[in-house]
Amino acid sequence: MKPGKTLDVGCGLGNYAKYLASNGFDVLGVDFSQKAVETNQNKYHKENLKFKTCDALNLKSLDTKFDFVLDISLFHHIKPEDRKKYAESLASVTKSGSKVLVCCFSDSNEIFEGKSELYGLETNTVMYALSKEEITKTFENQFEITELREFEFGKLTKFKQSGTKQRNLIFMMKK
Ligand SMILES: C[S@@+](CC[C@H](N)C(=O)[O-])C[C@H]1O[C@@H](n2cnc3c(N)ncnc32)[C@H](O)[C@@H]1O
Repeated sequence: MKPGKTLDVGCGLGNYAKYLASNGFDVLGVDFSQKAVETNQNKYHKENLKFKTCDALNLKSLDTKFDFVLDISLFHHIKPEDRKKYAESLASVTKSGSKVLVCCFSDSNEIFEGKSELYGLETNTVMYALSKEEITKTFENQFEITELREFEFGKLTKFKQSGTKQRNLIFMMKK
């Protein structure tokens, strides 16, 4: 993919944003954690790597469009009733042909033990297991899903539960 104007939604401590910026992408990382954003702002001083506090459900407030939007491990924190709002929010910062990559927990991940949600003790957050059907239903109005597959993310050490690391990887293009 050619470097372009990129949004890292739920950027956390900015590792992916930093990686993309070092590969020539012009990156804005956003997170609703002011602490994470301030840490990144104090750490990174590059013209093509900026950070801002923003709720993923209100990306419209950024008032700009991106060629590429990246969401690594944010979508599975969005409450089921807010999923459509999230898709609309992503749509508001993309234009026809913009690419979106989302990585989220799969419902086949055994840490969920068949349940649809899990409370992460160490992160103090709720995570939701996503089926391919739920993902398709969430994004299909605004985005063409070009690829949707499971992959192994890496050893999970953050959670008490051990288990497999199945994640969904979703490649989409704005209609
Ligand atoms: C599991 S972390 C992933 C961080 C980073 N993307 C990474 O992979 O290293 C999820 C991040 O999403 C952020 N987040 C969760 N819900 C959010 C929302 N509604 N708006 C903005 N950020 C959110 C959290 O603050 C956290 O930094």
